[in-house]
Amino acid sequence: MAKRWEECTEEDILQANIEKYDSEHIVNFYKDFEEPRYSYIEYNVIFKAVTDMLEKTLDHSLRAVDLCGGAGKAAFVLKSCAPECKVTLVDLSEKMLAIAREMIAKNNIQEIDVVQADAFSFLDSEGEYDLIVFSSAIHHFKEPLGLLKSAADRLSENGVIITIADPTTITKSRRYQFFRFLAAGSEHKKQMIKQMFSPNSGANNADFDMAEYQTYTGIDDRELARGVRDIGLSPLLHLRYPAGEPYMVKIMPYLGLCWAFSLVLGKSENRVPAAVVDKLKQDIRREMPFRFKYI
Ligand SMILES: C[S@@+](CC[C@H](N)C(=O)[O-])C[C@H]1O[C@@H](n2cnc3c(N)ncnc32)[C@H](O)[C@@H]1O
Repeated sequence: MAKRWEECTEEDILQANIEKYDSEHIVNFYKDFEEPRYSYIEYNVIFKAVTDMLEKTLDHSLRAVDLCGGAGKAAFVLKSCAPECKVTLVDLSEKMLAIAREMIAKNNIQEIDVVQADAFSFLDSEGEYDLIVFSSAIHHFKEPLGLLKSAADRLSENGVIITIADPTTITKSRRYQFFRFLAAGSEHKKQMIKQMFSPNSGANNADFDMAEYQTYTGIDDRELARGVRDIGLSPLLHLRYPAGEPYMVKIMPYLGLCWAFSLVLGKSENRVPAAVVDKLKQDIRREMPFRFKYI
């Protein structure tokens, strides 16, 4: 019988992710998925503000990692925000990385190294980075704090970690579920109804998709932001924002549905001056084209 989430180890979840991101339909989704540029806007805004801040403190090209980077979405945005930066794109799935390699070749993008590895093995190896990005990634781990701790050990003196595009626990709410249902296409609506009435549905079910478990439960982002202090990190920024299609992100904040979160984390020992953090916040506030909130 399949294990329940509580019984799963980080190793079990890694295995579920290996299987998931090797499957044809998931990989094809990323291959065919031409998101409108606008839906990356929060990536552009946050990465631009953070890389500008970092580049002021560095005497070398920024060294960044897009960890669990899949088909390279975050890596490509990073290159567009800071063209001089060297990016290492890491993922466990060779098929996801193959999509990224095609994009790199097609657009002749320089200075992106592509590495197939699981996140913990990569972080256990040598190397120091000024920026480590987890895009839609930390919810694929049993203990996001353990992952962030390993990442913190790889940071350079002024280095920071960005987590982006992870779900908060708002995704569990009926309000969010209802809005998602309204916004879905008719085929998707049918699937959702079917799932709702299936005896095997729900996050507490033993057959539940382990790789995606925390997409449905959400992450308690406030607790995470408190928890990072115990592993030598401090939140410079903590945002909640409404990820999704362009028209939805305009509406969601008015319905209390800033359901995704992003953290920018620095080393606690490296006190970033308040004026620098304020500027970071203002830059992001000025450029973001939809409502969001700082926590
Ligand atoms: C939701 S996708 C996000 C991909 C990409 N970061 C993005 O924003 O489009 C999650 C990715 O995490 C990768 N992944 C999951 N667990 C991993 C692990 N333990 N080590 C490395 N990659 C992992 C998967 O292969 C997949 O590509």
